[in-house]
Amino acid sequence: MNQHKNDFLLANSNYLLNHSVGRPLKTAEDAFKESFFAPWQHSGKEPWGSWLDIISNFQLALSVLFNAPAEQFCPQVNLSSSLTKIVMSLASLNKEDVVILMSEIDFPSMGFALQKALPKSAKIRFIDKSLDITNANVWLEHLNKEVDLVFISNAYSNTGQLAPVHEVISQAKELGVISVLDIAQSAGVIPLNLQDVSPDFMLGSSVKWLCGGPGAAYLWVNPNIVEQCQPKDVGWFSHENPFEFDIHNFSYNQSAMKFWGGTPSITPFALASHSIHYFASLGASYVRAHNQKMIDLIVDEFDAEVISPIQRETRSGTVILNFKDKQKVIMDALGVANISVDARHLGMRVSAHIYNDADDIQQFIDVVKQNYS
Ligand SMILES: Cc1ncc(COP(=O)(O)O)c(C=O)c1O
Repeated sequence: MNQHKNDFLLANSNYLLNHSVGRPLKTAEDAFKESFFAPWQHSGKEPWGSWLDIISNFQLALSVLFNAPAEQFCPQVNLSSSLTKIVMSLASLNKEDVVILMSEIDFPSMGFALQKALPKSAKIRFIDKSLDITNANVWLEHLNKEVDLVFISNAYSNTGQLAPVHEVISQAKELGVISVLDIAQSAGVIPLNLQDVSPDFMLGSSVKWLCGGPGAAYLWVNPNIVEQCQPKDVGWFSHENPFEFDIHNFSYNQSAMKFWGGTPSITPFALASHSIHYFASLGASYVRAHNQKMIDLIVDEFDAEVISPIQRETRSGTVILNFKDKQKVIMDALGVANISVDARHLGMRVSAHIYNDADDIQQFIDVVKQNYS
């Protein structure tokens, strides 16, 4: 048995839905009780000291995983509201006719947030969904001095593609274009070193490959731009001294924490920080190597049905398969066999994590083959 299988609560299923929600660690519940609940339960004093330690621990876990100082990460509720906060914070985006570049296959919520948060005259230029988003030239043909902000996702969940983030972010830097990197689908499974790839902003969550549950999103702000940011959605925890309590004086925290807001939520971050530490100590390269081996097993069997990239350099942690008119029958049979996958318009999404092994993949292959003739 795979050595990591025993670390997670897998509920007796062959779970291949890690692009959606990762499974919890077996230790998650006890760790949560100890960090969040025990200080509240056992002390007659208010537990904020212990609760804020949870946030520091969350920042620390991210700092190890992405190789950047802890204070450059600010807890967020989700990516959409974080993106709203970013664009509203920059004077250079709050003028007439700003131009945003993103892909038509980006997660729709990101487009919704940009449309509503930016002034009405803002134009979003979508890279057409028919174009190959893994090809740096496609991006570079669209990225020019007219663009004010480029939004790029590291991985795209419906196509299983990776974007050329190095090239795009470097070009954006050269042109003076603001860059925002979405790592919702890649955090934990695609290595990312913020000392090598350095966007202006990076947004992520903990719910998918990091197995940390919903509500524990984060925003990383490049120190080169943090001073220019003047978030509108603020509260006392965005203040440089939350306990100053002078209603006439608001003064931004100097770090990314200026994006924090009012009284923070803590519970999601208690769960997530425990899990992110686990993955930070494994390292994303290790997780990716295993995930890619599992994808190879599927590609070897169904190369004609794989519609996500075959080349490792351009494929994410998810393999997308299209079994055409047999898709529904196969999905039903997988459900009966307790093999968890899902489907979007392009095909079936299959995402193997560190706790899946070759036996899981073989079981998936067997069920598909029995129903695909
Ligand atoms: C690429 C990408 N970005 C963002 C999100 C989620 O955004 P939010 O946290 O606002 O729900 C997802 C969710 O699946 C995603 O795949």
